[in-house]
This record gives sequence, C-alpha cells and structure tokens, in this order.
Amino acid sequence: MQDAFRIRRAVVAIAAAIAISPVATPALSQAAKVDLTSPEAKKLIDRGRYLAKISGCNDCHTAAYMPMAGKVPEKDWLTGDSFGWRGPWGTTYAVNLRLYMQPMTEDEWLKRAVTLETRPPMPWWVFREMHKDDLRAIYRYIRFLGPAGQPAPAYVPPDKEPKPPYATFPAPPK
Ligand code: HEC
Repeated sequence: MQDAFRIRRAVVAIAAAIAISPVATPALSQAAKVDLTSPEAKKLIDRGRYLAKISGCNDCHTAAYMPMAGKVPEKDWLTGDSFGWRGPWGTTYAVNLRLYMQPMTEDEWLKRAVTLETRPPMPWWVFREMHKDDLRAIYRYIRFLGPAGQPAPAYVPPDKEPKPPYATFPAPPK
C-alpha cells in the first residue's frame, strides 16, 4: 500500500516535472536515431563492448576501472571520471561518453572521430588508425548502454589548482 502510494506520487512528480519544465523533454527526444536491434547492430554492439574492454576506453572513461582491475558493473561503464590528469596542458577529465554520444548521429561520430584532437592523455590519434567498422562498433555500443551519469568535471587551466584526486605528468622531454 505504502509502496503503491510512493510509486504513484513519483509518477505524478515526474509528470508534473515534464509539464512544467520544457527542457525535460527535449533532452530526451534530442537523442539521435540509432538502430540497436537488427542482427548487424547486435554484432556491432558486441564488438563495441569488446573494444571498450581491450582498447583502453574503460581504463580512463570508467571511474575506478583501473584500480578495480576491470571489476566495475557494465551499467557504469564509460560514464566518465572525476579523476584528473594534470600536466603542462592543465588538468583534463575523461568525458562521459554515455552523454557525449547521445545527440550525435553515427555519421557525425565517424567524421568527428577522425578529425578530433584533444589534450592529453586521450589517445585521439588511434581513431585515425581504427577501421571504420570499429568506430561504428564503439558508437553503437555506447548508444546501446544509453545515457547515464553526470558530465565529467570541466577542464582546469594550468595555472589553477584542481581538486584531488589527480595524477601529475612531467613535461615531455625537449
Ligand atoms: C589514458 C586515458 C584515456 C584513454 C585510454 C581513452 N581516453 Fe578518451 N579521453 C580522455 C580524456 C582525459 C579526455 C578529455 C580530453 C580533453 O579534455 O581535452 C578524453 C576525451 C575523449 C573524447 C572527447 C573528444 C572531444 O570531442 O573532445 C572521446 C570521444 C573519447 N575520449 C573517446 C575515447 C574512446 C572511444 C576510447 C577508447 C578507444 C578512449 N577515449 C580512450 C582519456 C582517455
């Protein structure tokens, strides 16, 4: 009884939030269309999961993945990390890829992947070597996981002190 009441109250609250706040609905409907159910899509999703594990994406873009030796539930994968990477470039944070991919179509991602250039330690150049189908697989897998988590902290410039925890890199050799 108590539970039914709580659920009903939650449903009313959500309905009210959607009605009051016009930003609540666009945020959901802005997700780019993607096929996640065809046999081809399923193959790409499996390959994307494999790539997220073996090509390092989880190591940085999933909180605690490195210290936990990969024992992080899949539902939390690729939601970004507030662990900072500090060096001469300032302090960077691995972005929340679950939110990042949402508004992007697969074609937009394919174009972006081979032109983007980030600050360290993101190995952005590997996207230029990756087979197109692997880039597609990463996209489909992340869209399959769906949106989750919060955006990663904003970039901190070199002269500003970041909040711990962070790792410090020395300047590269001259
Ligand atoms: C060594 C850590 C590390 C690894 C490994 C890594 N990333 Fe990143 N990634 C980052 C950081 C840090 C940023 C933010 C860079 C910045 O702020 O300039 C980032 C940014 C990105 C971005 C945003 C690019 C943009 O548009 O600005 C994408 C997309 C991305 N990573 C995807 C991936 C994928 C997919 C993999 C696996 C193939 C991967 N990353 C592996 C650390 C990493």
